[in-house]
Amino acid sequence: MPPLSRYPYLYAPGTAKEQFKPMPIQPTSKIWHNGSLIPWEQANIHVMSHVIHYGSSVFEGIRCYGLPQGSAVFRLPEHMQRLLDSAKIYRMEVPYTLDELCAAVVNVIEANGVAPCYIRPIVLRGYGEIGVSPKGTPIEVYIANFPWGKYMAGHGGADVCISSWNRLAPNTMPALAKAGANYMNSQLIRMEAEINGYQEGIGLDVNGLVSEGSGENVFVVRNGVLYTPQLGNSALSGITRDSAIAIARHLGYTVIEQPIPREMLYIADEVFFTGTAAEVSPIRSIDRILVADGNPGEITKKIADEFFGIANGLKPDRFGWLTPVKVNAAKPVSA
Ligand SMILES: Cc1ncc(COP(=O)(O)O)c(C=O)c1O
Repeated sequence: MPPLSRYPYLYAPGTAKEQFKPMPIQPTSKIWHNGSLIPWEQANIHVMSHVIHYGSSVFEGIRCYGLPQGSAVFRLPEHMQRLLDSAKIYRMEVPYTLDELCAAVVNVIEANGVAPCYIRPIVLRGYGEIGVSPKGTPIEVYIANFPWGKYMAGHGGADVCISSWNRLAPNTMPALAKAGANYMNSQLIRMEAEINGYQEGIGLDVNGLVSEGSGENVFVVRNGVLYTPQLGNSALSGITRDSAIAIARHLGYTVIEQPIPREMLYIADEVFFTGTAAEVSPIRSIDRILVADGNPGEITKKIADEFFGIANGLKPDRFGWLTPVKVNAAKPVSA
């Protein structure tokens, strides 16, 4: 019998440890907290905070890209509006406007002087109440930024599986809220995929229809038409999903949001993920069935070219997606 690891649940016998790509956080200098910049190492919360026990947080993940002419945050207002929407679903009263939150993101990036970077705003219920009811717990808003590279390794496409875990059932955990608690489900999907030698898992919804990856939306291409699950299939309304739809339509393609049966993935001409972390990432195989010949498809490549062209300032910002920040573009963060 192969030796068991110290972490038998994460590294099951025979599991390639290379599957687990470490992504250590690189600290920066400041974190924005409730209107002020505080030192990175002082951005701590008490173990008895409501969020620790009940998962009461909503958050965002945003990228700032390095452009030849400076740096810019990708779709900042849309991300911060989704943060406010997530908070509203959970009756969290955020004491900042959309404009103030966007300004706070720019402020922390410029203060840290780190770009390109990943930005992590989070709204959480803090210390003050141990009951499930959050009444009496303060709302805390933090925004951190730090360098971060590629999330989906390799350019040839990801090998993914259909997860044995379903995504959140409607009217249980609201899938349109990007809430910390939802990511317990994402963790189950991701860990299962990695343990079984895949890069990512795709969750089906409670009816067995394609929903999304643990942290990405899914697109399928068949006969020149793009398909993606509807938001009613327990999918997050991804900002990159929206960007891919806009780009595809701009390029003249038809995009249909519709229920997608699992087997449509197996017979697709192309399948790709979208997400702030994953950006636009081709999928090479699903459950060990190759997508077409296993190479990234033409439509995926065209959408990725346009997406990265706009994000990196090499193509016109035709949709008005970039918010400039005054940080000199360093070399792009490597994977
Ligand atoms: C579950 C899930 N679906 C989809 C996405 C993609 O969303 P976005 O493109 O806004 O990053 C993410 C990432 O935030 C996610 O966590």
